[in-house]
Amino acid sequence: MNEAHVPVLVAETLALLAPERGGVFVDATLGLGGHAEALLEAGSEVQLVGIDRDPQALERAQARLARFGDRVRTALGNFDQLSATLRGLGVSKVAGILADLGVSSMQLDTPERGFSFRFDAPLDMRMGAGDVTAADLVNGCSEGELSKIFQEYGEEHQARRIARAIVASRVGKPIETTAELRAVTPAGAPSDLSSE
Ligand SMILES: C[S@@+](CC[C@H](N)C(=O)[O-])C[C@H]1O[C@@H](n2cnc3c(N)ncnc32)[C@H](O)[C@@H]1O
Repeated sequence: MNEAHVPVLVAETLALLAPERGGVFVDATLGLGGHAEALLEAGSEVQLVGIDRDPQALERAQARLARFGDRVRTALGNFDQLSATLRGLGVSKVAGILADLGVSSMQLDTPERGFSFRFDAPLDMRMGAGDVTAADLVNGCSEGELSKIFQEYGEEHQARRIARAIVASRVGKPIETTAELRAVTPAGAPSDLSSE
């Protein structure tokens, strides 16, 4: 993913948010700033507050949006603190909020972030500094906790089987890399991540 990355559903986003009305728009998952850029380009009366918990993403978005000057304000943080973030910026009223949920392709495509089985890398998967790593969870959670995580957050049908295999494997040595995790998971699982 680079600065030329084209965000998804831009036309639909602009049609729904109608930024040409002007006002303060919040992009709660700024990413690389593609949607934010489209909102800002829609009218000179648009102001944007961009939030992301990933410092790398925020830095790249800030560079991309620098040409809009003080029409853009950014904040590093979790969107679950949105009200406090807006209060801190002195914003009391917004015209629209966008949340493009999930991981970004930049996160998936950066090997050392450990989000993908396509690269052998430390089992990190943190979106922001201070988060626990995937290795912490894989090596520290009980079988039941792991199964719940895979089932609830990964919608993984083989959650219990995978959790059992991980717990059996980590007895001798902690699982530290994406390749080691892949090697201990039963054939064909996890279904979605195996091709990422
Ligand atoms: C799909 S990307 C957004 C892409 C963006 N719309 C663009 O045009 O480039 C999702 C972003 O949400 C961020 N994110 C995920 N969970 C978050 C949270 N709880 N709070 C803030 N940002 C979050 C990720 O770091 C990632 O950069």
